[in-house]
Amino acid sequence: MSRRILVTCGLPYANAGIHIGHLVEYLYADIWVRYLRLRGEDAIYICADDTHGTPIQVRAMKEGVAPEEIVRRFHAEHTRDFADFGVQFDMYYSTHSEENRRWSERIFQAAKDKGVIARRSVEQMYCPKDQMFLPDRFVRGVCPKCGAKDQYGDVCEVCSSTYPATELKDPGCAICGTPPIRKSSEHLFFELGKLTDRLREWTNSGDHLQSEVKNYVNHWIEGGLRDWDISRDGPYFGFPIPGEQNKFFYVWLDAPIGYIASTEAWCKAHGRDVADYWERPGTEIYHVIGKDILYFHTLFWPAMLMAADLNLPTQVIVHGFLRVGGEKMSKSRGTFINARTYLDHLDPQFLRYYYAAKLSGKLEDLDFVFEDFVNRVNAELVNKIANLASRSISFVHKKLGGKLGRNPDDARTLLADVEKEEAAIADAYARRNLAEVVERICRLAEAGNLYLQHAAPWEALGKGDPERARDICTAAINATKILTVYLKPILPQYAADVEAVLNLAPLTWADAKADLAPGHAIGEFKHLVQRVERAQVDAIVEASKVAAPAPPQDYTVDPLAAEINLDAFARLDLRVAEVVAATAVEGAKKIVQLTLDLGPLGRRTVYAGIAEHVSDPHTLVGKKMICVANLAPRKMKFGVSEGMILASLSASRGDQRQHLALLEAPEGKPGERIH
Ligand code: 2FM
Ligand code: ZN
Repeated sequence: MSRRILVTCGLPYANAGIHIGHLVEYLYADIWVRYLRLRGEDAIYICADDTHGTPIQVRAMKEGVAPEEIVRRFHAEHTRDFADFGVQFDMYYSTHSEENRRWSERIFQAAKDKGVIARRSVEQMYCPKDQMFLPDRFVRGVCPKCGAKDQYGDVCEVCSSTYPATELKDPGCAICGTPPIRKSSEHLFFELGKLTDRLREWTNSGDHLQSEVKNYVNHWIEGGLRDWDISRDGPYFGFPIPGEQNKFFYVWLDAPIGYIASTEAWCKAHGRDVADYWERPGTEIYHVIGKDILYFHTLFWPAMLMAADLNLPTQVIVHGFLRVGGEKMSKSRGTFINARTYLDHLDPQFLRYYYAAKLSGKLEDLDFVFEDFVNRVNAELVNKIANLASRSISFVHKKLGGKLGRNPDDARTLLADVEKEEAAIADAYARRNLAEVVERICRLAEAGNLYLQHAAPWEALGKGDPERARDICTAAINATKILTVYLKPILPQYAADVEAVLNLAPLTWADAKADLAPGHAIGEFKHLVQRVERAQVDAIVEASKVAAPAPPQDYTVDPLAAEINLDAFARLDLRVAEVVAATAVEGAKKIVQLTLDLGPLGRRTVYAGIAEHVSDPHTLVGKKMICVANLAPRKMKFGVSEGMILASLSASRGDQRQHLALLEAPEGKPGERIH
């Protein structure tokens, strides 16, 4: 009976690309799941985009698009990047889905029914201009400890001290620069402390956590578990909380629930029942995560599952961060490498191989050292593993008519060793110690090459004994076949290439035997892997370099928008427009309704967001403004706006006042075009 296994990875945020740091996790889990499938286990690999929260909402606001648009864009990009790295998710879904809304509501309701949801008032920073509460990261100001300017509201990047956003000096909203005010609102809390006993029991029973992780979690538990704020006030991109006014689930509530929602989406597509995975016993659930999101996965998440009587994780598997050359990835040094940049220059299998060679299932960080990467790929993958395959296969193909013979006696030890290693390699895979897997494979490939070197089929052929040459190569090819089985989870493309070259059906774990028979006809030979050159790595680093940020200034400006050409600009049809009426709009305190006279082009109604900057709208009557006259009419709450007037509204950090200047047309008759 195969095991029913569900493996998940951390869900990447839907507002940024995938980089080589992310890939440590996705490749690590992918390799393990591929191994499980190769063994015939009923294993699925589930992931999704993590779509909700303020950063995505603000990004959408700045780009003038709906958050769903951002979500769509990154979903397409992430899907492509994963596919090109051979990350084979069974389902790559989205937390912005109906399934996820339903599960979030269900889990919340269950928690409420269990009496672990409390409510109380919270004072937070609020931007009066954007009319929204600001998460700590969206408040910038002077560090209260060291005085560094332009720091986040939670931690200073200069002195590393942490503080509440309310302590930041000279704070400003990161979106618009306006000084935030403190404002209270009612929030909902998950009372984690009420589940302390069950969480303690889960943490310390069985094999749910690596031992170092267990220590951390116990430390948190014994320090006392605080209530967790699970609500955010609107406007917020997320799911509305049922029964509440303008309150939404905090992104971290619905993110892990996305594991269940994505499982459900997969189940629907495959005629399976999500309850088998999350409600009934019989499924092993593994969450692979980075150590930065430990608290969420070892306390909040199990607590939510407990509250809803759902299955708890079998294991939370934690890995370290990626460092590059011993340092944090850095944009200015070119070590913050996007998946796509890597793919533009190098074979994804090299990274799969290198990460596997370095991942042993420990919590420690993985160091990507370029020199080491080039050396290991060339010395191990190319010179040992692929070399054994290429030498023997190309020899049979070119010199021996492409037919195999039988394993000779002098290869018996070699082949027995290669076959025998199956148990140890399987065990290493099961412990997810991929470094050990690679090490064992390399040792066997080395032995295979030694054998080939000593047995020297080219000499046998030279001496007129092609059958001896064929037998030697047959042993080397049998060894290659078995090593390819062992390597297949790590290098699926390489394995597919070997399968094609050897004219074999897709290999499974059961094929780890030296049983290719006499007379077996191999396929066309093709080169299996190219060497990696240091220059290719340097090119990646060069392409990843982002200009160092400009020195800090006492004000910041919006980033430059995408370049446009003159044609695009010339498409704007600007006309002189005389204001004939200007009135406030009821229920919209920012808007003024303008009636504009465009002469022969007729009259237009335009709604302009300038009310806060003009003391009395009537003073505008008689002014000649500049109107964008060919803007498509826009339906607004209060009517249709048939154009736009030009005004400059500037506000920058360090100069908190906002300046509105209506651009007046110096001369010209209503309706005349302005060039
Ligand atoms: O830290 C992150 O990148 C989060 N998006 C991970 C979420 S994992 C899960 F809980 F959804
Ligand atoms: Zn603001």
